[in-house]
Amino acid sequence: MNEKKFDVVVIGSGPGGYVAAIRAAQLGLKTACVEKDPALGGTCLNVGCIPSKALLQTSEEYAHAGKALKRHGVMIEGLSLDLEAMMGHKDKVVGDLTKGIAHLFKKNDITHLKGTGALGAAGEIIVRADDGSETKLAAGATIIATGSAPANLPGIDIDEKRILSSTGALALDEVPGHLAVIGAGYIGLEMASVWGRLGAKITVIEFLDRIVPGMDGELATQFQKMLRRQKMKFKLSTKVTAAEQNDSGVTLTMEPVAGGEPETLDADAVLVAVGRTPYTEGLGLDAAGVTIDNGGRIEIDEHFATNVAGVYAIGDVIAGPMLAHKAEDEGIAVAEIIAGQKGHVNYSAIPGVVYTQPELAAVGQTEEQLQEAGIDYTAGSFPFMANGRARAMSATDGFVKILADAQSDRILGVHIMGADAGTLIAEAVLAIELGASAEDLARTCHAHPTLSEAVKEAALDVDERAIHV
Ligand code: NAI
Repeated sequence: MNEKKFDVVVIGSGPGGYVAAIRAAQLGLKTACVEKDPALGGTCLNVGCIPSKALLQTSEEYAHAGKALKRHGVMIEGLSLDLEAMMGHKDKVVGDLTKGIAHLFKKNDITHLKGTGALGAAGEIIVRADDGSETKLAAGATIIATGSAPANLPGIDIDEKRILSSTGALALDEVPGHLAVIGAGYIGLEMASVWGRLGAKITVIEFLDRIVPGMDGELATQFQKMLRRQKMKFKLSTKVTAAEQNDSGVTLTMEPVAGGEPETLDADAVLVAVGRTPYTEGLGLDAAGVTIDNGGRIEIDEHFATNVAGVYAIGDVIAGPMLAHKAEDEGIAVAEIIAGQKGHVNYSAIPGVVYTQPELAAVGQTEEQLQEAGIDYTAGSFPFMANGRARAMSATDGFVKILADAQSDRILGVHIMGADAGTLIAEAVLAIELGASAEDLARTCHAHPTLSEAVKEAALDVDERAIHV
């Protein structure tokens, strides 16, 4: 077996891993990144954030061309969808971006090792290639960034043809007549939007009595109304107990969570989107003695260090929201810590975005969380209906809500539903990062006419002095 020496070996090349590798290399550390899949980029680039955004964009353009453009006097005749071309666009975007990481690795002198990485003896990593050959690496520090995999429900076999995980839902070769979606979270609602806009009938089945758990309750209620207007059907407080394939599709059996008569639902395809689980298979964590918690996540201290000296972990494989940008920030922080700097992630300023139409975006605390914590807060909100640019865009759905500490006026949470909410949230994230007050935001000049003026107006409304309502 060959042995190679590195200061840092990163296992996994998703947004956590590849960013950690680049930052470590920038800091002068000899770095390698081990990846088992043929393409770099992990779930996010290959079967997650990026391909889903390509499909969301195409399906949104299609829906827009079909309906909304008429309002603007743009008439299109003979509109049709070329599904193959839509998938081709998605595949090209993914291919270009994953090749972009290979380029960044080269530029930063990072060694890309193809194979499955596992912890060996102290300070050692074994890389097993597809042909079974093994390479032993000696590493000053190891960063585990192996991400997560789709969770499944007991008794449901995902075949990626009719019963799909997010991976299969990104690669259907025809629009299903009826798509049943189990789970009204990020993935479920984004993929329901894609296929619904392309003509599928959608039924979303959710265990809880609300959609997008974790998001602000008022936002979630309004959001569900918007989605209903897009003809999505919801079955809340309902659990799926079986999914059986037959000649024409899949029959789901479900029952009320509170108990009651089971019922069935026939669909052409079913998407299982009930969360993700940390992916630690084949890492040899047990043998190495790395502690994992009862959710299967690797336990770390405030410096991303596991209980085994020299072994660190970041991203979906540790606690916290399973979000690419959270993993990226942890990647930068852990590389800086390994290099002797003071890397840090501010977990109270991590935005969450659902890329539906309208988009949902949030940072900081929800009203429910503030109430539960007994924090006295003031809320200000502003509807996009009263924003000139939103009207010009025919994007009047939604609102901005800002929650500020009742005594200090410090911004504690910002929740946006509306067009481009995912971009608008950035200034709220910065405001929270810098400890800004609602008044700071309200006194900041916002360009006119832009959607961002709704953020300023919501900040003004915290002090009941919004101008345009
Ligand atoms: P999620 O945690 O967002 O939503 C899962 C939903 O399934 C929840 O509403 C949950 O209550 C429901 N559920 C669980 N068990 C169920 C059952 N037996 N029957 C019916 N409903 C059930 O998970 P999701 O959507 O699968 O996404 C996985 C991860 O990927 C999330 O952590 C998310 O943050 C991330 N992601 C982020 C995106 C973004 O940033 N835009 C896009 C897609 C995924």
